[in-house]
Amino acid sequence: MTDALLDVRDLSIHFRSGAREVQVTRKVSFTIAPGEVVGLVGESGCGKTVTGLALMGLLPRGRSRVTGNIFLGGEDFAAMSPRQMRRVRGRRISMIFQEPMSALDPVFTIGEQISETLRAHRDVSVGEARARAIEALTQVGIPEPELRYDAYPHQLSGGMRQRAMIAIALVCEPQLLIADEPTTALDVTVQAQIVEVLGGLCARLGMAMLFITHDLGLVAETCSRLVTMYAGEVVEEGHIDDVLVRPRHPYSSGLLRSLPALAQRKATLPAIPGRVPTVAEMPAGCRFRPRCAHARSVCEDPQSLVDSGNGHVRCCRQEELVLPGALRGEVAA
Ligand SMILES: Nc1ncnc2c1ncn2[C@@H]1O[C@H](COP(=O)(O)OP(=O)(O)OP(=O)(O)O)[C@@H](O)[C@H]1O
Ligand code: SF4
Ligand SMILES: [Mg+2]
Repeated sequence: MTDALLDVRDLSIHFRSGAREVQVTRKVSFTIAPGEVVGLVGESGCGKTVTGLALMGLLPRGRSRVTGNIFLGGEDFAAMSPRQMRRVRGRRISMIFQEPMSALDPVFTIGEQISETLRAHRDVSVGEARARAIEALTQVGIPEPELRYDAYPHQLSGGMRQRAMIAIALVCEPQLLIADEPTTALDVTVQAQIVEVLGGLCARLGMAMLFITHDLGLVAETCSRLVTMYAGEVVEEGHIDDVLVRPRHPYSSGLLRSLPALAQRKATLPAIPGRVPTVAEMPAGCRFRPRCAHARSVCEDPQSLVDSGNGHVRCCRQEELVLPGALRGEVAA
């Protein structure tokens, strides 16, 4: 057991389709301390969302199989009944999704949805729930919160809907918020506002956050630690300042080098060649090997996540390689 708020150990997720079963994450391990904001990055299909859904106990029942352990405040999710898990969800751990319109219920007002979430988890009166919902709308920066309480989701802009989703997620004051690409569907100015709201709330409420995103620039602004996933595995984990300046895994280095902020200063954008392998194409040994410029025969052996001094890395050549990163100033610019 550790002092971590969240301790994920060897989390493997499998999906079933008929008699066939595919493994989409393999032995994913990471921790989040109380109040800590951790970024989870990786290309499309790497397993970020399924990891978030597993933490929430929201993977489709009967069609998925999860192994490994998830401890929240020392309590093991695997030992919980679905009823106990429902109590944890929303109350101690909440999730916001990329597209708020599909997560909000179109037939209830924003205020009703926030109040109902609160009343499902806390013993509060209708009047108290209304007051707390208006307070939550205020906290996420929604103007005229009393009026917005009675608005339906379709009456709000995309940015306001995402703020309303955040209000629902935080009204029970969870210890951990999972934010899955919360700004991707929004324009750049609104993105910046939402990220500011989330960062401010974490600091004010002492809430920890797992920030899932493709955008390393946003991670640099908001997170203190970074977890990089590739093809269902964690390949690097470390303090943001260390990883940005000196990534230890060639995949993290590739992601950092393909940042648009750096591209403005260079003639061409150094993209990572190839694409994430499908389950059927998964190479033996290092899963990044077909795309890695530093691959050697030793990389054909299975790679484990080992201590790198400042974090953990899954690359047998990590000590000999000096890989380019992105200076923090350039990323945040
Ligand atoms: N319900 C499901 N049934 C079967 N396979 C699934 C299911 N949900 C996700 N997967 C598979 O799991 C893998 C990981 O998907 P996931 O959605 O977690 O990726 P991601 O890293 O969140 O990608 P993106 O950046 O595009 O959101 C993918 O190969 C995906 O096809
Ligand atoms: S183990 Fe080898 S192939 Fe994999 S990332 Fe490291 S150097 Fe590249
Ligand atoms: Mg996703």
